[in-house]
Amino acid sequence: MSTGRANFGIDAPGVIRNFALIAIAGVALGVGGQFSPALHRIGGIGFGVAMVCAVQGLWMLWTSLQGKRIAARQLIDRAGLRGGEQVLDVGCGRGLLLIEAARRLSAGGGKSTGLDIWNAQDLSGNARTATLANAAACGVSDRVELVDGDMRATPFDAARFDVVVSSLAIHNVYQADERAEALREIARVLKPGGRVLLQDFRHTVDYARDLRALGFTNVRRTIVNPLLMFPLTWRVEATGPDRA
Ligand SMILES: C[S@@+](CC[C@H](N)C(=O)[O-])C[C@H]1O[C@@H](n2cnc3c(N)ncnc32)[C@H](O)[C@@H]1O
Repeated sequence: MSTGRANFGIDAPGVIRNFALIAIAGVALGVGGQFSPALHRIGGIGFGVAMVCAVQGLWMLWTSLQGKRIAARQLIDRAGLRGGEQVLDVGCGRGLLLIEAARRLSAGGGKSTGLDIWNAQDLSGNARTATLANAAACGVSDRVELVDGDMRATPFDAARFDVVVSSLAIHNVYQADERAEALREIARVLKPGGRVLLQDFRHTVDYARDLRALGFTNVRRTIVNPLLMFPLTWRVEATGPDRA
C-alpha cells in the first residue's frame, strides 16, 4: 500500500516562507551591489545570506515532501508492530506516523489513534478533515481514530496504548516544564513495558533524560537518516517501566 496520494503538509510553512523572502531580498541586494557603488560592499553579504536561506528553505521543503515519509517508515519499522496493538501518534498532524502505523495493523484488529490540536502554523492545511482524507486515500480509515486534545493533558485512560510515537511535534510546546508534562502524559497512557519512539530536531536530549527519570529502560537516542531539519533530527526510543 502506498502513501503517495496522501498529502502530509509542509512543516512550519511560515518559516519556509520567511526563508524564501529573505533569500529574495538577499539576491536583490546582491544584484543592486553590482550596479550601485553604495551597495557594493553589502551586496556580497546579500548573496551569501540568500544562499544560506535558500538551502535551508529547500531542505525544509524536501523534508516535508519526501524526507519525513522515509523517516516515518523507518520509525514505525522499529516499533515492531504485529497487528493487534493500540498505537498513539502525539501531534499527528495530517497523519504521517498515524497512517504508517495503521498500515501495519491490518491483520490483528489494532487501532492507530491520532491526537492533535490542529495548529495551522505548525503544518500547512492542518485539520482533522485532511487527516481523515489521507487515511481514506491510504485505505486505512477503519484502523484510524482522531482525538482533539493537547499532549500536555490528554483525554486517555492510563495504560491504554502499547506504542506511543511522535514526529516533529513535542518541540511545538515552548516551555521546558510543559514538554516534560507531555512526556509524563506519554508515560501515563503507555501500557507497562510498552514502546515509545519520538523524533524531533530539538530538545531530544531532554526527552531521553526525562524518560529515564520516569523509569524507562533501553533509552536510545540516534540521528535520523535521512537528515531532516536543521541542525539534525534525532530519534529517541525507550521501553516503558514494567509496573505490573
Ligand atoms: C510540525 S507538525 C508535525 C505533524 C506530523 N507529526 C508530521 O510529522 O507530519 C506538529 C504538530 O503538532 C501539533 N501540536 C502542537 N502542539 C500540540 C499540543 N500541545 N498538543 C497536541 N498537538 C500539538 C500541531 O498541531 C501539528 O499538527
